[in-house]
Amino acid sequence: MAEILVTGGAGFIGSHLVDALLAAGHGVCVLDNLSMGKRSNLPLDNPRLRFIEGDVADAAQVEQAMAGCDAVAHLAAVASVQASVDDPAATHQSNFIGTLNVCEAMRRHGVRRVLYASSAAIYGNNGEGLAIDEDTPKAPLTPYAVDKLASEQYLDFYRRQHGLEPAVFRFFNIFGPRQDPSSPYSGVISIFTQRAQQGQPISVFGDGEQTRDFFYVGDLIELLLQGLFGEVVEQPVNVGWNQAVSLKQLLAEIGALCGGLPPVTHLPARAGDIRHSRADNVRLRAHYRLPQQTPLREGLRQLLGL
Ligand code: NAD
Ligand code: UD1
Repeated sequence: MAEILVTGGAGFIGSHLVDALLAAGHGVCVLDNLSMGKRSNLPLDNPRLRFIEGDVADAAQVEQAMAGCDAVAHLAAVASVQASVDDPAATHQSNFIGTLNVCEAMRRHGVRRVLYASSAAIYGNNGEGLAIDEDTPKAPLTPYAVDKLASEQYLDFYRRQHGLEPAVFRFFNIFGPRQDPSSPYSGVISIFTQRAQQGQPISVFGDGEQTRDFFYVGDLIELLLQGLFGEVVEQPVNVGWNQAVSLKQLLAEIGALCGGLPPVTHLPARAGDIRHSRADNVRLRAHYRLPQQTPLREGLRQLLGL
């Protein structure tokens, strides 16, 4: 059994990964500053879980967390694209310096395997509404996307220079239980489902025709385990279903499940917001065993507790 460092492990995706690692018998160290994550997402009474409340931007704390670990899932970041537009300097500390600190600590401790949570945001609008493959020219439109792309490139430098084994996943839009809806920066499905259940008004930024490729978190975790323990895949891999869902379609699905929708208002589109985002997943299918897809409606049902 291995000891895995999960940065950002108290957050949405990270805490599901922690559960899966513990269930498989591994030991886990979580490093999280609780800026978005919560202690209540973690089984703190499990003796194989070590929790460090700390910051990936602090090299000494990363160094301490790395001690005794065999592999790393580096998920800590400010996940909101809009937050990076509003405060690039602060988000850069978490989203880029954090990655560099993880690479350096791995080099010093001789740890090789690192799973990295990159993002479809690095393609900007270059997909032009078509399925985006990994070789599509990169066009990061926001500080968030710039930091994700730079992190990928640093990981590649450490692969070539120091023998790190990065498994880079470019997530499209992940959704499911524990995605925190409490901030305006949160993922759109978490916000829309909570507001629909509470009967509070919903704001759509732009015309609602923008599309995303939504991927259920439970399906993602099966891939992340392969990234941590499977064959090395040197190239970055998109994680999406090659399915475009517009916000209007999403609202219709939520309305059907909730027996109607609260008032929906349209506000101006967000700066740097991507219009259409849909994954070409040929590479994913070539290198990973794909789980059976949890359809959007089923994922929404689970999220809504139906
Ligand atoms: P999340 O906000 O729930 O998780 C991120 C976690 O990192 C939180 O627990 C937060 O407290 C922690 N964190 C943030 N800054 C930190 C810092 N400086 N030091 C230590 N901990 C810090 O978001 P998530 O959706 O679970 O995202 C996980 C990762 O996946 C992020 O890297 C995100 O950019 C990436 N990602 C997410 C999506 C998505 O659709 N959710 C898509 C693409 C990429
Ligand atoms: C999301 C992730 C980001 C990831 C990217 C990959 C979050 C918070 N963001 O960004 O980490 O890298 O996918 O594809 O998990 N919207 C509304 N009303 C709202 C909230 C959002 O209309 O109340 C709109 C946004 O303007 C956007 C769409 O919904 O057009 C999706 O927004 P969001 O869930 O924040 O995701 P992305 O920006 O795609």
